[in-house]
Amino acid sequence: MSQGVRIRDIEPGDEAVWRELWAGYLAFYGASLPESTTASTWSRLFDPDVPFGSILASRDGEVIGFANFVLHPFPWSDKPACLLHDLFMRPDVRGGGTGRALIQHLIDRGKHDGWDRVYWLTKGDNATARRLYDTFSPADGFIRYKVALT
Ligand SMILES: CC(C)(COP(=O)(O)OP(=O)(O)OC[C@H]1O[C@@H](n2cnc3c(N)ncnc32)[C@H](O)[C@@H]1OP(=O)(O)O)[C@@H](O)C(=O)NCCC(=O)NCCS
Repeated sequence: MSQGVRIRDIEPGDEAVWRELWAGYLAFYGASLPESTTASTWSRLFDPDVPFGSILASRDGEVIGFANFVLHPFPWSDKPACLLHDLFMRPDVRGGGTGRALIQHLIDRGKHDGWDRVYWLTKGDNATARRLYDTFSPADGFIRYKVALT
């Protein structure tokens, strides 16, 4: 793990910093969402009936990155699968091992809690992220199709 980086579960008091990272992540993708969606996603992170989770990375007490994930039933196993949905580091800390630490944290948690797998998607041209991801596993060749319904 990166020097001095602490990983922990999100807490209700983290709303401002989570929203800041969320906004940065959406901007990275050139996406915008209604405030009602962001508010709903935030509140569902703490709904025991919704299998969302978020972990935060901090250094010297300051939050510098997050990973949002979904733990879902998986038809190919009796164990759940974890979709790492959103991964984002503050621009000024990139390249310092924080993204690696967040992914490794989910992998370690999954081993401990009996998940079948941790998996994620990225854009084919996100070379920076793929340099990191390729150190965990080669990409498996699946290509995403999407039909937007809203
Ligand atoms: C992709 C991202 C999450 C990686 O987080 P990070 O904390 O910068 O990544 P790390 O420092 O753990 O990266 C480790 C590896 O990735 C590569 N890497 C990542 N960012 C780098 C940078 N700015 N400069 C050089 N190498 C970099 C290196 O190969 C590095 O390997 P090393 O530790 O052996 O040198 C971060 O760059 C980010 O938030 N990017 C914008 C949003 C994004 O692309 N999210 C992922 C969408 S799927």
